[in-house]
Amino acid sequence: AWDLAHVGNYEELWILQRVAGLAPTNEQYDDMYDAFRHERFVRDELPLLRGAQARDYLAAVRERVLATIDSLELDAPGQDDPLLADGFVLALVAQHEHQHGETILQTRNLLGARVAPLALAPVPSNGEDDLATAAVPGARVRIEAGTHMIGTSLEPRAYDNERPAHEVQLAAFEIDRYPVTNAQYVEFAESGGYDDERVWSADGWAWRTADDERAPLGWQRASDGSWTVARFGVTSALDPLEPVQHVSWFEADAFARWSGGRLPSEAEWEVAARGTDLSGANLGGLRGGPSRIGSHPTSASNAGCEQMLGDVWEWTSSEFDGYPGFRAFPYREYSEVFFRSGYRVLRGGSWATHPRAIRTTFRNWDHPQRRQLFAGLRLAWDV
Ligand code: AVJ
Ligand code: FE
Repeated sequence: AWDLAHVGNYEELWILQRVAGLAPTNEQYDDMYDAFRHERFVRDELPLLRGAQARDYLAAVRERVLATIDSLELDAPGQDDPLLADGFVLALVAQHEHQHGETILQTRNLLGARVAPLALAPVPSNGEDDLATAAVPGARVRIEAGTHMIGTSLEPRAYDNERPAHEVQLAAFEIDRYPVTNAQYVEFAESGGYDDERVWSADGWAWRTADDERAPLGWQRASDGSWTVARFGVTSALDPLEPVQHVSWFEADAFARWSGGRLPSEAEWEVAARGTDLSGANLGGLRGGPSRIGSHPTSASNAGCEQMLGDVWEWTSSEFDGYPGFRAFPYREYSEVFFRSGYRVLRGGSWATHPRAIRTTFRNWDHPQRRQLFAGLRLAWDV
């Protein structure tokens, strides 16, 4: 409920108040829906707009935005207000809405059977499953040593944390063609990966032992030894060829060490992802989960990695920080206040990410213990 009206309030704040200079609908909303004034765990104690009230607020804001939009001079030549140039403020508000859409889906998944099952549009059959059976889990591509550009100075929709484009030097490495599958992860869980302290970071081992974690969020082991997974309140058999999801960074890091590989840095990930075609990717939420590995061959990057965009967010080894030359825009609380605070970077988006809110330079971040994200991993290897 908080996320829903927060989306409308953000739209009101940035377009109607900041840009168009209009008065607030209700100053109490501006307080209530400010993420920095109320921590997540106390938000349900606020007098939130719920159901039809929230939807009416969203509709009223959108109506006023549409009535105002033509007067904004978004693409006036020489527009020197960076909030307006290239329509940045609209891209900001649209991406923000899509990001909270994914957060709402995460919440519905956590609520399980306490909320109505997810209503999904039927997925057109494109022979996905036949393609998937030909994929070889653990297949790798090699990236040669070199100087690469990462980030962007040109993409008008990019967030401040993706800027500026800059050079990085990388040693040669290998990276998996596909995300790590459930079958690969089952091997780790069943062969004692969760009991082998040597493959866990110190913080990871503390996390693993505190709640006696033994499998990704939502996994259950049946008495016959088979695994099931609960998603949006529905329990089904674990699909061995689907990318693993709902692992924490601690689990991803331990899995990688147990495998003899490692997590890629975000620069390695971005170089391996360059050239990925959005149109071949599983994005937008309607599928309800990740696709089996190998089922999106047309999504291959220049390097030959598949499913870099969509399916599952991929944890990287990198801690969230600003790029050299970073400048906070349009507000410090989007990115900068999270730098160097122990957040780990995730890349590539998930099946639930909207296609307009993802690109190969896009950076997401979360605490290393978080598991509600639709997140898995891809392995990198020293050569
Ligand atoms: C980029 C997903 C970490 O949800 O905390 C939403 C995005 N920022 N509203 C978050 C965001 C402001 C952010 N993440
Ligand atoms: Fe937000």
